[in-house]
Formats: sequence, structure tokens, C-alpha cells
Amino acid sequence: MKEFTIDTRIRSFAWEELSEADRRLVEEAKRKTQDSYSPYSHFCVGAAARLSDGTIVGGCNQENAAYPSGLCAERTVLFAAGAMHPELAVETLAIAAYTDGHFTEDPVSPCGACRQVMLETENRYGKPMRVLLYGANHVYEFSSAESLLPFSFISEDLKGGVRAR
Ligand code: THU
Repeated sequence: MKEFTIDTRIRSFAWEELSEADRRLVEEAKRKTQDSYSPYSHFCVGAAARLSDGTIVGGCNQENAAYPSGLCAERTVLFAAGAMHPELAVETLAIAAYTDGHFTEDPVSPCGACRQVMLETENRYGKPMRVLLYGANHVYEFSSAESLLPFSFISEDLKGGVRAR
């Protein structure tokens, strides 16, 4: 029997410790929570992607009376960025959530389907995509989408080959 571990490094920042560019991106994610269409959950999620040329694309969750037809904020933004600026890599993605009249104190952890889409985006452009998760108490930074979804299903798996990791 062999055993191996996959470690995830998470850096936790106080608001003042973030760079000005990151604060601006997170502010956009926070602002977009207010555009959330979430009449069923009342859980307002905003996301903002900074692209390789500095462009910021923002978005929010979109719910539906047929619940599974809705979409999370992260995928809304990544699909919008991919549709509008297919040639630009996503450098950093920021996420914030607002419910019961305030932003969450702790960062909200993206769902599995969004992590899968984040990973595809990262692999598509061949560059790590940083992820910033906003909480009123602290902001978490993941240096890549892969670190949020270890041992994931990726395009190489479709070829049935040996994993290079
Ligand atoms: N939601 C997101 O937009 N992103 C997440 O990471 C978690 C959940 C949305 C989906 C749904 O509209 C609401 O939050 C409650 O699950």
C-alpha cells in the first residue's frame, strides 16, 4: 500500500493587505452581488474576472423557477468572459456573497461544478488563474483553479492515458 497527499495552500489576507488591483476586483464582485437574480434562495453571489489585458468582467447568479436551470455567479462570469473575450486569459477571479442584509463574514466556497469550469478556463489558457474569495473578516487566495479542485477530471483523462501528476 502506498499513500500520497495533495496539499492546498490557502493564503488569508486582511482587506488592507490586498493590492489595490485586487481590492478593485473584489469591490466589483461585491458590487455585482446587488445585481443577483436570486428570488428563490435570496443568496446573492457576485463574481468578477480580471483578464490578461486588465479588462474586468462582472456577473452574478441567475436563478430560475425550474431550479437546475439557474447558474452560479462564477460560471456566469467565466462563460461571459469566454464568449466576449475568447483570446484573453482569466488572470484572477474574485467572488463575494451577500445574504440577510450583509456580506458573508467568511468566504463562500465555490460549488463543485464551478470549480470544474474554473479548471477548464485555467487549462484553456495554460496559465494559473488566481481565485480570491471575499469574506468580511478575511479574503482567501488560491493561486490556481487546480488547487481548488485537486485530482480532477481533465481533458487528458478523455484520452485514457497515464496522468502526468
Ligand atoms: N451560488 C453561486 O452563485 N456560487 C456559488 O459558489 C455557490 C452558490 C448560487 C447558486 C444559487 O443561485 C444560490 O447561490 C444558492 O445556492
